[in-house]
Amino acid sequence: MVEKKRVAFLASGGGSNLQALLNAMREKDFPALPVLLVSNKKEAFALERGRNAGLRCEFVDPKLYPSREDYDAQVLALLRDCRIDLVCLAGYMRILSPLLVRAYAGRILNIHPALLPKFGGEGMFGHHVHQAVLDAKETESGASVHFVDEGVDSGVVVAQARVPVLKGDSVETLAKRVLEAEHLLYPQALRKVCEAV
Ligand code: GRF
Repeated sequence: MVEKKRVAFLASGGGSNLQALLNAMREKDFPALPVLLVSNKKEAFALERGRNAGLRCEFVDPKLYPSREDYDAQVLALLRDCRIDLVCLAGYMRILSPLLVRAYAGRILNIHPALLPKFGGEGMFGHHVHQAVLDAKETESGASVHFVDEGVDSGVVVAQARVPVLKGDSVETLAKRVLEAEHLLYPQALRKVCEAV
């Protein structure tokens, strides 16, 4: 049997994508093993989800590190300590420094709640994305899983899921529809990457 990839998650929030990944990874034939969860937020519910799944969970406090590089050096030390092969960002609200991106080049994934390259980049997070989609009168939106490079939302797209924008949609209704699509997409994309690397 092919050895499973050892996966770490970086998360800052509720972690519903993390949960979808953890659920998928319970399947016997899933080619990856959840190992480590790192959060920059002590109260993140994602930490709770990680603990419930039996992962090593670490809160790395940004206040203790003078720069983004210093912070990421600590994250990198944890990744190396756990012999991590792939990193999944799951609602991680920090921009990664080049130190981390270069150390794990081609091995860090992120999920973004829009059809990249549209509606990505600085400031395009959370509800801002869906508001921009509605303002642009798009008829469809969706989610993208992409590799993380040194830009913001600019790495190669691995997989996308499309959802319609419906008449009368609010930011909330659209966000909910996109999030449901994310929960199916991220595990599929991770599987695809595991089988390719
Ligand atoms: C998702 O919308 C994802 O696209 C974005 O952050 C959100 C995270 O939600 N990167 P959750 O913490 O997985 O529920």
